[in-house]
Amino acid sequence: MKTATNELLRGLDPAWERGDPAALLPADHAERVVELKGRSPKLAEAYERWAEVFAGATTGAALRERHTAALGRERGVFTLALAKLPEMPLNERRAWGAGLNSIKLGLEGLYKRRSLDLEQAAEASTASGLDVTLPGRKPWVGRRHVLGQIQDELLDLFHGLGYSVYTSPEVESESYNFTKLNFPPDHPARDAHDTYWIGDGRLLRTHTSPGWVRAMEELKPPLRLVFPGRVYRAEQVDASHMDQFHQIDGLFVSRNVSMADLKATLNTFARSILGREVKTRLIPVYFPFVEPGAQLDVACAICGGAGRVTGAAGEGRCPVCAGAGWSELLGAGMVHPNVFKAVGYDPEEVTGFAFGMGLERIAMARYGIPEIRLFLENDLRFLNQF
Ligand code: PHE
Repeated sequence: MKTATNELLRGLDPAWERGDPAALLPADHAERVVELKGRSPKLAEAYERWAEVFAGATTGAALRERHTAALGRERGVFTLALAKLPEMPLNERRAWGAGLNSIKLGLEGLYKRRSLDLEQAAEASTASGLDVTLPGRKPWVGRRHVLGQIQDELLDLFHGLGYSVYTSPEVESESYNFTKLNFPPDHPARDAHDTYWIGDGRLLRTHTSPGWVRAMEELKPPLRLVFPGRVYRAEQVDASHMDQFHQIDGLFVSRNVSMADLKATLNTFARSILGREVKTRLIPVYFPFVEPGAQLDVACAICGGAGRVTGAAGEGRCPVCAGAGWSELLGAGMVHPNVFKAVGYDPEEVTGFAFGMGLERIAMARYGIPEIRLFLENDLRFLNQF
């Protein structure tokens, strides 16, 4: 037994600094010393000596070295002592085994505690090594999405023309989206809208025009309203088509509203968003809810609508609009009498015009964005440019 206890002290290097284990785990350490003294003063001493050098390690590497010397799987002094238990006389084996296991537990606890302290100290010392001469980090500042910016700008413009905002649901009934807007039952114009049906005669609105019907049912003329919002169409997605996008409709209902009022409003709008010099044209187009219906085109900024340019390489097709000369900006027209009837207005009393535009298309034209999917991808490299 005596030689065995001497072996427990053998691995200790006299050069190792010592610390106070009671400062690491006060209650556990004190109890263990008392318990071990009850078994054998020599075991208690071995534990205390090793506990002191665990507590005194000043670096992670030094601590690991001491841990290996005491508890290493191959040569740790306590590991070796435990392996020799079977050679001991039976009467000593029990007390000795329990004591060694208790030492092992105690030293592992101290090891963990000391490692943590050393790690925290290392972290704290790098933090205090703060280099105040490094350039600062700019806080990240959010911004409005490019479509939100365009929407704000357009609503601001229409506000100046006397329009108020009216919002309506994205989940609509067939009646508001189609029927009351004078789409005849089974008319192919319904198919052209590639509708997402969600059952029960409900659908995701395919345009913001159902808002007119809701507004007219709720309010009395005269009305001057704009209807911003998200719309849905079951489109095949590609560079210029998405299955969801944004529109703003406008509606003006009063007495003696004419096509000339519509033209003037649309031109004011086009100039304000695309510049004073922009050339426009209004051409007839069919929409069930307006009569006459029209489409406002804007001339290509490069060829001025001609579709052809003369450059260094001679006369040829305009490279920007690919020869088309014009691009469609919005749909418009005089509100169809059947729509007035559907909401209980008298078409002999009131007249009105309406228009509807896609925000993605406007943003793409203004900024030269070639790909509609970018708006929904939330890639900050794209969004941060606006
Ligand atoms: N609601 C139509 C669409 O989504 C656009 C439009 C609005 C056309 C108003 C004419 C008048 O295609």
